[in-house]
Parts: sequence; structure tokens; C-alpha cells
Amino acid sequence: MSGIERVGVIGGGLMGSGITEVAARAGLDVVVIEINADAVKAASGRVEGSLRRAESRGKIDAAEVTAVLDRITFTDDLEQLADRDLVVEAASEDEQTKLDLFRRIGQILTKDDAILASNTSSIPIVKLGAVSGRAHHVMGVHFFNPAPVMQLVELIPSLTTSPETLERMRSWVTDTLGKKPIDATDRAGFVVNSLLVPYLLSAIRMYEAGYASAADIDRGMVLGCGHPMGPLALSDLIGLDTLKAIGKSMYDEFKEPLYSPPPLLDRMVDAGLLGKKTGQGFYGYE
Ligand code: CAA
Repeated sequence: MSGIERVGVIGGGLMGSGITEVAARAGLDVVVIEINADAVKAASGRVEGSLRRAESRGKIDAAEVTAVLDRITFTDDLEQLADRDLVVEAASEDEQTKLDLFRRIGQILTKDDAILASNTSSIPIVKLGAVSGRAHHVMGVHFFNPAPVMQLVELIPSLTTSPETLERMRSWVTDTLGKKPIDATDRAGFVVNSLLVPYLLSAIRMYEAGYASAADIDRGMVLGCGHPMGPLALSDLIGLDTLKAIGKSMYDEFKEPLYSPPPLLDRMVDAGLLGKKTGQGFYGYE
């Protein structure tokens, strides 16, 4: 038994809202933290929109949507995390932002055994533990997008995470959320992104060099390899800013050229063409 009933989620963006939905649908009480009133409203709209979509597909009924939403509090007040058993940080993929949050939340949590986890894809967990003042209770818990659909969660203990913390998280992910975990070590990219990111960046380089159209690169991998979506559509789904940040962290750690974001990715991020979430990336979205 994980003993985790009260959960906090930092960030109500793509991943944070998905993790919130998963936790609240599993019956947990969730506090979601965003940076200001507008972001709080956007996060709440994102979770409700996803639940309404599930309702329209007949996966849950209207009463359940209401019950799930009643279990979630959206706020910009970090102090509301004080009584949480677990906080999952899903802020933007920026090391300084995450270090600041771990420092502050480490001081706010009141339960001795409360776990502070990061959904980072690439930032060293050991650094987040070090600034939190509770390194034994800090680890990585990496969900995949869209979180309500994808089964996998990577569990990443750092050199300072206690075995009890890892086992409580394993139990929470498996027994409470019904997801399937794999274990990874605290190296940028963990298991999945170490394989996925060079593949996605290679597709962007291929497109940039004019080998083929975006649609044909994607069709090649969907029809030729049976992937559910092609690499450029998947990059749009992940978010091009997030993909760039992950590639950069991995490059900083390993100096492997295949991890280095290509110029086209930089330019698209500079232009605000971030993929599905902004309506335009390699493809346009309604
Ligand atoms: N939220 C909730 N449910 C969603 C959803 C979302 N955002 N998007 C899709 N779904 C559900 C749909 O409701 C549908 O469920 P039912 O079949 O039960 O009705 C199911 O997923 C399939 O959806 P669609 O029919 O609309 O579309 P699809 O069949 O094309 O599937 C997809 C969409 C699930 C996204 C699929 O294309 C897919 O699996 N793509 C690959 C996703 C992937 O690789 N994710 C990992 C990204 S890497 C990452 O996240 C880590 C990182 O650090 C970067």
C-alpha cells in the first residue's frame, strides 16, 4: 500500500492536466498549482475538456465527470500543498524553475514521509532532491503523453532516494493508477526518451534537408513500421519547446550529436510554432 491519497500536481499544462485527470479518476483528492489566475482557469478548462471528451465517447457518465471535478482544486497558492502525501511536479522543462520549486515545496510539505516527485524527462533527479531538504523522498515519475491513454510510467530513483519511497511510488502507479511502470536510472532521457528523442530529431533533420515532405516522412513510419503516428506529428503532440528542452538536456549530459536540437527546431520554437498546443507546428491544428 502506498498510503497516498492526497496528491498535488504542479503545473496544469499538457502533462500536469493529464496526470491530474488520471489521479482524480482513480478517486484521489488532487490540488493543482498554476502560476496565476489565468493559468489556473486554463488548467481547469483543459481537465474538464478532456473529461467531457471521454463523456462524449461514452467512457464515463456526466455524474462521474462532476464527481471527478469535485475532487480537484485548482489554485495558484503553493501553500495548499502542505497536507499532501505526494506532489508530482510537471512544470516546464527548465532546470532553474524546477530547482526553485523543489526548494520551496520541500519547506511547505508537513508530512515527514510525503513524496516529492518530478515528471521531468531529462533533468537530474539527484539535483532536485539535494535542494528539497528531503532527498530520501524525492524521485522521478515520468508519464507519457497523452497521460490518460499511455500505460507506461518510468520510475527513476536517484542516488539519494530511499528504497521505501521507490516502492511506495511503484505501488501507487500500479495499484492506484493502474499503469505499468519500468525502472530507469537517473540519466538524462531515462529509457524511452534516450531512444525516442534522437529518432524524432533525425526526422526533423531529414525534413529540414528536404529528403521528403512531412506527410511522407510520417506516412513512412506509420505504414512501414506500424507506429500509431509519425515522428513529426508526434513531435507536434509532445510540444516542440519541450522536445527542444529534452534534446538540449540530453546533449549537455552526453555530448551525443544526435541529441542536439537541429536549427529548424530552434527556429520553430523562436517563432512560437510549438505544435498541437499552439495550433501550428509541422502541421496545422484547429
Ligand atoms: N486524452 C484522453 N484520451 C485521449 C487523448 C487525450 N489527449 N487522445 C486520445 N485519447 C483516447 C481517445 O479517447 C481514444 O479512446 P477510445 O479508443 O477508448 O475511444 C483513444 O485515445 C484513441 O484516440 P483517437 O481515436 O482520437 O486517435 P488515435 O487512435 O489516433 O490515437 C493517440 C491517438 C493515443 C495519441 C495515438 O496516436 C498514439 O498512441 N500516439 C503515440 C503517442 C506517443 O508516442 N506518446 C509518447 C510521447 S513521448 C512522451 O510523452 C514522453 C516525453 O517525455 C516527451
